[in-house]
Amino acid sequence: MKKQLLDSFGRVHTNLRISVTDVCNFRCIYCMPEDMVFMPDSALMTYNEILHFTRIFVGLGVNKIRITGGEPLVRPGVPHLIEQLGQIDALKDISLTTNGIGLITQAQALYDAGLRRINVSLDTLNEEKFEQMTRRKVLSRVIEGLKAAHDCGFNPIKVNAVAMRGFTDDEIVDLATFARQNSYQLRFIEFMPLDADDIWGRNMFIPGKEIIDKISSVYPLERMTLNGDAKSDTAQRFRFADNGTELGVIPSVSEPFCESCNRIRLTADGKFRTCLFSLTETDLLTPLREGADDETIENLIIDAVAKKEAGHKINAADFVKPERNMSRIGG
Ligand code: 5AD
Ligand code: SF4
Repeated sequence: MKKQLLDSFGRVHTNLRISVTDVCNFRCIYCMPEDMVFMPDSALMTYNEILHFTRIFVGLGVNKIRITGGEPLVRPGVPHLIEQLGQIDALKDISLTTNGIGLITQAQALYDAGLRRINVSLDTLNEEKFEQMTRRKVLSRVIEGLKAAHDCGFNPIKVNAVAMRGFTDDEIVDLATFARQNSYQLRFIEFMPLDADDIWGRNMFIPGKEIIDKISSVYPLERMTLNGDAKSDTAQRFRFADNGTELGVIPSVSEPFCESCNRIRLTADGKFRTCLFSLTETDLLTPLREGADDETIENLIIDAVAKKEAGHKINAADFVKPERNMSRIGG
């Protein structure tokens, strides 16, 4: 029988997110502190180690990979990594999440390496708010990066926006207008307690439903019915009724989708995590560096997935925040 990553709740895991670095050139307030300390280079998986792990995961049924960070494009050589990942049979989908700046110089190389799908994080179109959110004054360069990706032919280009009460409430419709004008697929993500500074509070996230209500009062929306692979999509998907551009909300806090989760994660330092909110992780890199064979690594992965938690407990009284903030897990 073909190997698969099955957990005790019957979920099969085919979707792997790999962080290639925890370093970022932004300091988003919902992610990391201003004075973030990054891992030493020696702690990071080399590209050969990433390829080695990926082949093992693909042998266990993974067919979808997303490259994340920190900011993946600050690490030199990502296009070459993408090209090599593309040569792994049975890997049918490779995508990348970026803050956008690196696309100005790297969009074409990424496209030439075979990448077609890209997510760019952009929470606000207001220069001052952008600076408050990211602690960087570079909004126009993110927009430039998006344009560069568009000009190369990336499709779809998704724009991820973390919606934060008190910051972006009044920008929801503006972002929707921007996205539909440029044919970007906008995805609002509810702010989750994965920040380093403990700013998260229940009053800080904007529920997906509120976001959709706000947008649909200006632009009528149609809900999309999902089937096949899309069922484990974390986003509730909609279309603008008049122009067909897609948009969505990822209601991780208000309507958790843990039941249909098919995701697993590898941190930049080679730790395997079965959930964003896992309180334990499995070190794969140390055994690999100590010469463990593939079967040993496979078994570590299979055992960790078998013990995967039912879901996150953001809404439970006994919620405990993971020690790693978002940039060290891999967004
Ligand atoms: N809650 C929700 N989303 C977050 N991201 C980073 N930190 C958080 C958080 N605390 C998002 C980024 C990016 C993706 C990698 O994760 O904005 O879009
Ligand atoms: Fe960097 Fe992304 Fe974290 Fe912002 S959310 S600081 S862009 S890793």
